[in-house]
Amino acid sequence: MSIVGESFLSSEQLSEKDIEQIFSRAALFKKEFQKTKRFDHLVSHNEALHQKMVAMVFSEPSTRTRMSFQMASARLGIRTMSLDNPQVSSLSKGETLEDTFRNIAAMLPDLMVVRYNTNLDADAVIRELPCPVINGGIGAYEHPTQALLDAFTIQEAHGKLKGEKMLIVGDVAHSRVANSNMVLLRRLGVEVAYCAPKEFEPTTEAWKGVRNFDSLNEGMEWASVVMGLRVQKERHASTGIGLSMAEYRERYRIGGDQLKHLRSDGILLHPGPVIRGIELSAFVLNDKRTKVLDQVTNGVFVRASLMSIMLGLEVQQK
Ligand code: CP
Repeated sequence: MSIVGESFLSSEQLSEKDIEQIFSRAALFKKEFQKTKRFDHLVSHNEALHQKMVAMVFSEPSTRTRMSFQMASARLGIRTMSLDNPQVSSLSKGETLEDTFRNIAAMLPDLMVVRYNTNLDADAVIRELPCPVINGGIGAYEHPTQALLDAFTIQEAHGKLKGEKMLIVGDVAHSRVANSNMVLLRRLGVEVAYCAPKEFEPTTEAWKGVRNFDSLNEGMEWASVVMGLRVQKERHASTGIGLSMAEYRERYRIGGDQLKHLRSDGILLHPGPVIRGIELSAFVLNDKRTKVLDQVTNGVFVRASLMSIMLGLEVQQK
C-alpha cells in the first residue's frame, strides 16, 4: 500500500487497491466487533500494541474525528495523547502551530493526527516531520478519512460504489469534506454533482466539469446518495458572504418536502456536526434513509483499519 509508513494527507494518494484494503479490514473489524465486542485480537500478537503511540494535535474544534481516532486506537490497543484545547497549551503563550507540531513529533509518536485551519507554514512543516501524519481536517483543503468513512457507508448501504450518484448540497466552496469526497468517490466510479447557492459554488480547478443542479428537488431525484454539508461560517469573510441563513434555509435546507424527491432506497448523509433546521430538518434526521449515525459508527472501524495499515500491523482473518 502506498501509505504504509507515509503520511496520509489527501484522498488523491489512495489507489483503488488501497481503498479496497482499508474497506476489507474495516469490514472485518466491524463484523468481529459485532460478534465479540472487540477486534484487537485479530492484530498480530508479535506487535507490542500498547507501546504504539498516536499523538492527536487539534487546534480546531472536533467531536467526531478526534473521539473516533481515540476510540479506534483504544479498540486496537494503541494509546493516544491529545492536544485539543489550544487555550491550555503553549499555543496560548505565543508558540506557533508549526513549532507545536515539531515539538510533539520530537516526542517520537508512531503517528500524528492533525486538525488546523489553513496555514501554509504548517502545511510545509507536517510534510517534513519524522513521523507519519494523518490529515484529520485541514482548513478548507481536505478531510480524507471522512471521505473514506462516507464511501464505506455508501458501499455498506448499497452493496457497491460504482454507478452510484452522489449529490452534495450546501457550502461546497468552504468544505474540506466535499473536496475529499469528490476525489475519492469519482476514483471509485461514483458520479458526483452538487447543488449550492452561487456564494457556495466551488471555484477550484478540481471542480471544473462537475455537474451543478440549480434545483435541489431535481438533484434529489437524480441522486442515489445525498450529502448535506454544514454551513462553514468560520471560513466566511468577517464581512459575511452576502447570504443570510434565512435565505439559505429557505432554498437549501433538506426537509420532508425535499426528501420526498429521493428514491425509496436512496440514502442521506451528513459529515456532522448537523446544524438542525439549517441544513437538515429534525424530521429527516429520523427518516430510515438517513445514515448520519452509521457514518459515525463506521468512522471508528475505517480509522482503525487505516491506522493499523499505516503502522504495518498484520491482521489475521478468523
Ligand atoms: N465530521 C467531522 O469532522 O466532525 P467533527 O468536526 O466533530 O470532527
